[in-house]
Order: sequence, then structure tokens, then C-alpha cells
Amino acid sequence: MKEKLPNPSDELPIFYGCDPEPNDLVEHFSHFVLAVSDLDRSEAWYRDVIGMDLLGRNLTAEGQPHSVLEMNTGQLFILVQQEAVDAARVNSHGVHHGFALTQNQFRRAMSRLEANGYTTGAEREEFIARGQYSVDVYDPDGHHYQIETMDEVQAHEPLFTGAGVIDCGPAMSFAIGEVRTFREGNFFLVRLDEGFLAPTRWCSHMNGMVIYQKEHWRFWCAMHTATYDRRGVPTCTTTRFPDLHPLRLHPVRIDDNGHVLVDSDRVIERTSYEEPNPPAPFPMREGGTQNPDLTPLPS
Ligand code: FES
Repeated sequence: MKEKLPNPSDELPIFYGCDPEPNDLVEHFSHFVLAVSDLDRSEAWYRDVIGMDLLGRNLTAEGQPHSVLEMNTGQLFILVQQEAVDAARVNSHGVHHGFALTQNQFRRAMSRLEANGYTTGAEREEFIARGQYSVDVYDPDGHHYQIETMDEVQAHEPLFTGAGVIDCGPAMSFAIGEVRTFREGNFFLVRLDEGFLAPTRWCSHMNGMVIYQKEHWRFWCAMHTATYDRRGVPTCTTTRFPDLHPLRLHPVRIDDNGHVLVDSDRVIERTSYEEPNPPAPFPMREGGTQNPDLTPLPS
């Protein structure tokens, strides 16, 4: 039996769930004007496939025949009849518009797309975070759209490779400030002045993949450009990340041979740099001792 789709009236419009900052220069755009070559055809497509509300024809001062639609955000989308439309310019494949929907809106959109004969697979999977769902569609003139939403659970659940405890080599081989990437366990090992940290490579925003940018001394997520310092603390201040947590940590210890061990099967959530897991102390040099308080890793 076909799943019953949720009622459209149950949700508020969203902008990634963020309220605009009071000092934002531009809060959101008010309307979007698009050239189309066949007004009837495009009006039907934006109404029936994308799901916009049709307000009417020729409602503005625009001289050309046009159609005014309303998006789920309340913003206007205006289609203007033109002789020729150049939707996809040479070398502009990445230029597109993105619609951010709630999960229920997204499910309804997928249903509409499928009913209209579209396949709903993501065309650019490498650009999508684990907790993000996205499809690419083209309007009748070839204008490119991304329709996306976020799954709360998948966006924030800890992800593991199953690699277990990884020997990262002698602690003494790391220079202060150095960051190494361990792909097998999908974490970084950071040598700080005060010890070692092993932040996961899964971004705290939506489980995108984070890389280390040595030239900026920071971690960076290509999905929506969140940034973190070498302690894994967020440094991005846009309204897209109002409550971004630090990168999650894997437990670290130094073994009797002075090797750094990281448990890639366990992860520690943090709300700040200090809480709840301070860095593992660096082993003392010749004749020194290690901190006896280190929690042993499970065997
Ligand atoms: S997943 Fe969104 S910024 Fe990383």
C-alpha cells in the first residue's frame, strides 16, 4: 500500500533551521526571476513537479509575459517568457540553485518527481554529507536544481570504520603542532603542546568528511564549509552553524613503548575543548614517567 504523505500545512518554512542574525546585511532574497522559453510548460513544471504555489500571470511591472509563483519560504519565483534561453553555459556545470526542504517536504517532492517520471538519485554524491539527502533535477529549459534535506539521525550519529585500536607510531616522532591523517580509522592525530588529540574526520554538522588544511592550520568540511581549529573547536560563525559542536574525539593513550594508540571504535562527544576529554599527556623523555591516570583502552 502506498505510504500516506504528510500534510503540507504541518511545517514552517526553513532556512537550514537557523534564525538570521540581527546584523545580517541581507537576510534572504525576496524574489527570483528566471527566463523560460515556453511559459505554459515551465509554469506547469514548477507547480506540479517542484510544488510551488501559482499566484497568477502578469502580476508585476515586467513587460514580458510572466508567471508568478511562491516558494515554501514565501519568496516569489517569477518565470519570464523569452525568445531564447541559455540555461547551461559552457563550463558552468556546477552552477545551480538549491532548495532546502524539511524532511516531510522532501518526501512529498520525491513523490512528485517520481510521479512525473524522474529518477530520484543523487547525481553528485561526492558533494553530499552522510546526513544529507539530495537530488538533482533540470527544468524544461535545462536549468539545474538541487533539492535537499537533512536527516537528523544520520547527520549526527557517530560513524565508525571498524578498524579498532590503531597504533599511530612513536609519540616522539610527532612535532608539536603536527597533524596526521589516519584514513583506516578515519581520524586525525594532532600533537599539541599539552598532548595528543584524535578528532574524527566526520564533521559535527551533518557527517560530511573533514580535511586538514595545513596552510590555514585548520580542519575544513567541503560540504557546507564548516571550519575547526586544531583542537577541533568550530571557528565558523555563519548562521548556518548556530550550535555546532567541536569535532568528536577518539580515546588516545601512550603505550609502554611510547607509541600512540587510538581507539577508532569509540568516540567521545564534546561540547567544548575541555569537556569531557582532555588530551593524552605526551610521554616524558629519558627516565620520565607517564601519567598514571590514563584510562586503559579496552582489550
Ligand atoms: S557536513 Fe555541513 S559543514 Fe560539514
